[in-house]
Amino acid sequence: MKTSVSEIIEIGILGDERGNLSVIESFIHIPFDIKRVFYIYSTKENVHRGFHAHYKTRQALISVSGSCKVFLDNTIRTDEVLLDAPNKVLILEPNDWHEMYDFSEDCVLLVLASELYDSKDYIRDYNKFLEVYSKKTQEV
Ligand code: TYD
Repeated sequence: MKTSVSEIIEIGILGDERGNLSVIESFIHIPFDIKRVFYIYSTKENVHRGFHAHYKTRQALISVSGSCKVFLDNTIRTDEVLLDAPNKVLILEPNDWHEMYDFSEDCVLLVLASELYDSKDYIRDYNKFLEVYSKKTQEV
């Protein structure tokens, strides 16, 4: 179990006279196999989303358009990450409680996930999150 909160990966920009292209491949650019993709967009002003951690799911967050902020808490450290470039990838481990906010109007937040959707994999209660992870995170 890692104790550092935010792992940010800068992926390459393949640019030419036509514009840019960036690529993310499982186990090459991010440390897991991608089983699910979803994206958050047209987010209304002042909306905060997330407020959960997971038991198993690992995720990679990319603001492919616009920007947003992500607050992270792994019971030992908290952090705030600004996602403001389409080649900036934030890796979230299962024990990263996360909240997303300050979405720009044009923000498209792309999320790559290591597991299929399963509501049982969510920890939405912060006290439950502390119960599950505070001891484990400190043991390592
Ligand atoms: P929700 O978990 O509330 O999003 P956030 O964590 O960003 O606040 O998800 C919104 C709805 O979408 C909720 O009813 C669950 C559903 N959903 C799926 O069906 N599949 C998915 O992969 C995701 C991420 C959400």
